Amino acid sequence: MRAFITGANRGLGLELTRQYLERGDQVFAACRQPAAATELQTLKQQYADRLVLLPLDVTSAASIDAAVATTQEHTEALDVLINNAGVYPHAGSGDDHQRLGQLTHDDAMETMQVNAIGPLLVSQALLPLLRAGRKGRILSISSGQGSLTWKATGDPYHYSASKAALNMYMRSLAAEIGHMGLISVLVDPGWMRTEMGGEHATQEPADSARGIIRLAEQLHTEENGSFVTWQGQAVPW
Ligand SMILES: NC(=O)c1ccc[n+]([C@@H]2O[C@H](COP(=O)([O-])OP(=O)(O)OC[C@H]3O[C@@H](n4cnc5c(N)ncnc54)[C@H](OP(=O)(O)O)[C@@H]3O)[C@@H](O)[C@H]2O)c1
Repeated sequence: MRAFITGANRGLGLELTRQYLERGDQVFAACRQPAAATELQTLKQQYADRLVLLPLDVTSAASIDAAVATTQEHTEALDVLINNAGVYPHAGSGDDHQRLGQLTHDDAMETMQVNAIGPLLVSQALLPLLRAGRKGRILSISSGQGSLTWKATGDPYHYSASKAALNMYMRSLAAEIGHMGLISVLVDPGWMRTEMGGEHATQEPADSARGIIRLAEQLHTEENGSFVTWQGQAVPW
């Protein structure tokens, strides 16, 4: 199994990377600053032959192109892409930046670029490698906060809108790539104790990672275009 993971240096991305490596898989761990990613550097010492660290800022077209080129130097195919990188401006800070009256253009743009547009363009760029893989799968880490059905509060404006946009982008992609034998699904990982989720979160990222890897293994073509939790239960759009 060959997996490509964005935002692999911490949180859920780091757990996914660690667990794929423990299973014996090859991992392309992409993050903004590999040289500063100490946990990934430690994993590299342990799994030198199966871990490729590569720089990737999902908001930069040049960075995406370079990451694809580096990946192609190591493999002819990928089996799984996990679009994990994400931002939640002012998460846990207790301030009002995602509330009415405090909304800014910069926060809106950053959130959309990282959470929605980036994953779409990364997926597009890696499509040839995924088509060459075994039942190529794209799992994009979304959130229950992106559900229109569940939306009952204003805050967070940008984060919720960005995940709803991600859902639509990936469902659009699913409609196009299904006939190629590829699968694109959205996954709600639960509320995890990471920098984004904060210390009061109910779940360890390691548990979410375990569920997501299991989900990736068990995906069928009928599930292409679906939105599910890390345990595989349907999430309302
Ligand atoms: N934590 C939760 O409770 C929760 C709940 C629902 C959904 N999610 C989703 O789960 C995913 C992982 O979240 P997490 O909790 O692990 O968050 P996290 O600990 O804050 O990690 C976010 C990751 O995204 C990376 N990232 C941010 N901007 C990037 C960019 N422009 N290009 C590439 N990478 C970038 C970060 O890299 P740097 O270190 O360089 O900043 C970091 O690796 C996200 O998509 C998030 O929205 C999380």
